[in-house]
Amino acid sequence: MPHFCRGCNNCFLKGENSCPHQDYITPIKEAILKAELIIFVSPVYVLNVTGQMKALLDHLAFQFMSHRPNKLMFHKTALIVSIGAGGGMDSTIKAISTNFKWWGISRIYSFGFAIRAVNWDEITKKNKLIMERKIKNISNKIKSKINKPKLSINTKILFYICRMIQRNYAYSPCDKEHWENNGWFGKNRPWK
Ligand SMILES: Cc1cc2nc3c(=O)[nH]c(=O)nc-3n(C[C@H](O)[C@H](O)[C@H](O)COP(=O)(O)O)c2cc1C
Repeated sequence: MPHFCRGCNNCFLKGENSCPHQDYITPIKEAILKAELIIFVSPVYVLNVTGQMKALLDHLAFQFMSHRPNKLMFHKTALIVSIGAGGGMDSTIKAISTNFKWWGISRIYSFGFAIRAVNWDEITKKNKLIMERKIKNISNKIKSKINKPKLSINTKILFYICRMIQRNYAYSPCDKEHWENNGWFGKNRPWK
């Protein structure tokens, strides 16, 4: 994402189409909603995600469960890939998976690896083989689970906390309307 979030709050208060960077965000948002498997990739920069990845995640904050989650997210499978020279893959993966959880995704896979190098040619043959084996394992796991939606208890708990907040303390009428239109204050649930 080439732009930083400007902090205008338009996405929360007026809807995501009022984002000044919507030309960038709309196609990404639509691709995510269509995807059978969402894959986010970030190298480790100073023990965390790259600035570009953080800027992208900031632009997608409107779809946090505390605002306007999309019910399609509750059935999605996601994969996070993070490669670093030495360390910081865990914190990078966590930064992205925290967002995914708040979007309503329960089935999240991750692949982190320290390549002990800064470019492909410098990676040892041994490390390339280890990576290949791990990637095959994770791909097989994903293939066997992709059409079996999972709903974690944490996703459910988060949904009910956000529902209570939206019902009693909503600060954005736009968010509240989204919950009303989906029937989530009644008996409808995003995972049904
Ligand atoms: C600004 C910057 C910060 C980095 N910080 C880390 C770091 O904290 N930990 C680490 O293991 N690698 C770090 N690296 C190395 C990169 O993660 C590594 O080279 C990675 O392979 C780059 O991914 P790419 O080949 O897809 O560009 C850093 C690289 C750059 C350019």
